[in-house]
Amino acid sequence: MNLKQEILKLKSKKNAVILAHYYQRPEIQELADYVGDSLGLSQNAATTNADVIVFAGVHFMAETAKIINPTKKVILPDLNAGCSLADSCPPDRFKNFIAAHPNHTVITYINCSAEIKAMSDLVCTSSNALKIVNSVPKEKPIIFAPDKNLGKYIMKETGREMLLWDGSCIVHEAFCIDKLLQLYQQNPDAVIIAHPESEEHILKTATYVGSTAGMINYVKKHPNTKFIVATEAGILHEMKKEVPKATLIPAPAEEDNTCACSECAFMKVNTLQKLYDCLLTESPEIKVAEITRKKALIPIERMLELSI
Ligand code: 13P
Ligand code: SF4
Repeated sequence: MNLKQEILKLKSKKNAVILAHYYQRPEIQELADYVGDSLGLSQNAATTNADVIVFAGVHFMAETAKIINPTKKVILPDLNAGCSLADSCPPDRFKNFIAAHPNHTVITYINCSAEIKAMSDLVCTSSNALKIVNSVPKEKPIIFAPDKNLGKYIMKETGREMLLWDGSCIVHEAFCIDKLLQLYQQNPDAVIIAHPESEEHILKTATYVGSTAGMINYVKKHPNTKFIVATEAGILHEMKKEVPKATLIPAPAEEDNTCACSECAFMKVNTLQKLYDCLLTESPEIKVAEITRKKALIPIERMLELSI
């Protein structure tokens, strides 16, 4: 059986759309109708006419698509596609945290569960975080969750104090500063670019900091350059296509990381076979309790309006 052809056949038979994140396996990115960052994926989910959304990404992304599209079927190739960052913010603990700090505007990074979004005033992604935070009047104190690294980066860029939740992404925290500096010494002509989920000492070395889509746009402006890329290695697939003449070196991770570069094990659980199976059986399906969905939709819609 030719999996790719069968997936395409099923997709048109079921009026399905495949949305994929830049960290997905190359063969999945190649089959997708749209590949993008978290904001682009949410914007696409908000405008699709498809009956079925196949989300080639992780659970919080598919859940966001379901919150926006209650009448559409949203399926994820593997329910084990979670996220360490989303897991670092359990709803019961976050509820207590908010209660302990009343009168704060609650801004949450999209990498969190529907329950956390339902407790939020605003949602943001890495590409609109500065804009979203700056949209809050200066005198209002802010709680930012769950990513403390993105939170610290926003504080530095906006000059705003925020109360940060102590969460992080295991993939972006795996970058090793000593190895990165060593690599840079060997490649002094390279430009370091980084995702803001990385730790402060990594971000300090970077010439450009931005979302996955932002990083791709940046390298497109410098097509003949040598880059050291500090984010999940799946992004290199799209970058190589966009800037074939650039030299792209993945930033090195700690020795004990499962991969020499940084790969998100959650993103990589999705395979072409699972994509086919989920389209065939229309499962596993993402479900969100209606009461939670309605509450979570409000801060997502605010984000989408502010991102036009
Ligand atoms: P963006 O693609 O929105 O930059 O997010 C990165 C990420 O970690 C997704 O899980
Ligand atoms: Fe979550 Fe990090 Fe994987 Fe993104 S790269 S899905 S933030 S664990």
